Amino acid sequence: MTAPKKLYIKTYGCQMNVYDSERMAEALGGQGYVETKTPDDADMILLNTCHIREKAAEKVYSELGRFKGLKAARPDLKIGVAGCVAQAEGQEIMRRQPLVDLVVGPQSYHRLPEMEAKTRAGEKALDTDFPEEDKFEKLRARPKAKRGPTAFLTVQEGCDKFCAFCVVPYTRGAEVSRPVDRLLTEARDLVERGVREITLLGQNVNAYHGVGPDGADWSLARLIWALNDVDGLERIRFTTSHPNDMAEDLIEAHADCPKLMPYLHLPVQSGSDRILKRMNRSHTAEQYLRLIERLRAARPDLHMSGDFIVGFPEETEADFRDTMALVEAVQYGSAFSFKYSTRPGTPAAERAQVSEAEKDDRLQRLQALLTRQQRALQDAMVGREVSVLFEKSGRMPGQMVGKSDYLHAVHVDSDAIAPGDLARVRIVSSGPNSLAGELSR
Ligand code: SAH
Ligand code: SF4
Ligand code: F3S
Repeated sequence: MTAPKKLYIKTYGCQMNVYDSERMAEALGGQGYVETKTPDDADMILLNTCHIREKAAEKVYSELGRFKGLKAARPDLKIGVAGCVAQAEGQEIMRRQPLVDLVVGPQSYHRLPEMEAKTRAGEKALDTDFPEEDKFEKLRARPKAKRGPTAFLTVQEGCDKFCAFCVVPYTRGAEVSRPVDRLLTEARDLVERGVREITLLGQNVNAYHGVGPDGADWSLARLIWALNDVDGLERIRFTTSHPNDMAEDLIEAHADCPKLMPYLHLPVQSGSDRILKRMNRSHTAEQYLRLIERLRAARPDLHMSGDFIVGFPEETEADFRDTMALVEAVQYGSAFSFKYSTRPGTPAAERAQVSEAEKDDRLQRLQALLTRQQRALQDAMVGREVSVLFEKSGRMPGQMVGKSDYLHAVHVDSDAIAPGDLARVRIVSSGPNSLAGELSR
């Protein structure tokens, strides 16, 4: 037997890329590859990239530049670029960085085995098609090896919303949902391998409309209810949702579905109706706030999370204050905020830009407010009993770390806990980034 070849994959961007990286590694497993944690001894390096902001894309080129020495020392080393930069820039990547052997887009990575063979024959391989066939049907069956207690499962891909700032509809293509029976099979397999918590993924996960086993059109809520019946699965989450796709049955699932966690990532981007309109978000700040009221009526302890963009073209100080007011009204449990980044080919790129200094100032003010809210909700956990899914050992000996229902990191000193255990924990203190607790008796 020949020694296995080594594959080093580095993942950037969103959770969907994390899932794709797993599937790409599995696809290349059939070509005799095993994963390695360092590029230094790799036979193939694959960067799974993100194009969402300028900095994310530039990082890829500086990382590629760093592989020059490795490639000079080992000419057999193959270097590939996957993900959203691959899709957006295609051939341009090989022109700008000639050491790249392979470029593969997010919808065509089931063709990696053939592409890898082509690079071994000394050719370059490029595939950024949006193929007719479903890549998930063509990919190798997933392995059965044990794995950690949490997993992502992509149920929906692509986006038809075309927000004026965003590249995703161009890099990931149109909205497509995977069929229910495939997802249930994959979920059951994950549970058999030790998974206790599944996060359903989609660029617009709540726009999920998959074919059910009965041939009918299933909503995300219906899929969640089916997963609720999977023995051994303890927790269900989903991300990322769009406010306009928050259907009534999904709101109700937050009230009634026992395994669905009380945490919802629902980006709004801005609190100004004028800016929301210019962003092509198709909803107002008021509609978003009313939606959250309905969600909280269904599940009073729901923690909200969101995404914000500051300094979108033409955003004034008054618009920004509307965002601050919306944040005050919601009280977020966590949130991500970004300075607007111009993306070539998107409508907003052509408009009057806000100065970098103003963007910096607004980002700082918004993040200060969000951090205060986040901390307040975390501190409010002290004295409460929560359930924690333990994932790994902590930094201190005898310590275990896991996540609460609300996604707070919780650490507990105990020798009696193993990864994958779900336990009731009484929270005793709140630190900068995590909670400390004791097992409840
Ligand atoms: N599908 C998700 C978001 C995907 S992108 C949704 O619609 O909410 C993740 C986040 O990146 C977005 O929510 C947005 O806040 C941010 N983002 C996207 N494009 C951006 C840009 N051009 N500049 C700055 N932030 C951006
Ligand atoms: Fe991008 Fe908007 Fe689609 Fe989200 S909904 S992926 S922000 S275009
Ligand atoms: Fe980035 Fe593509 Fe995800 S642009 S955020 S990796 S969908």
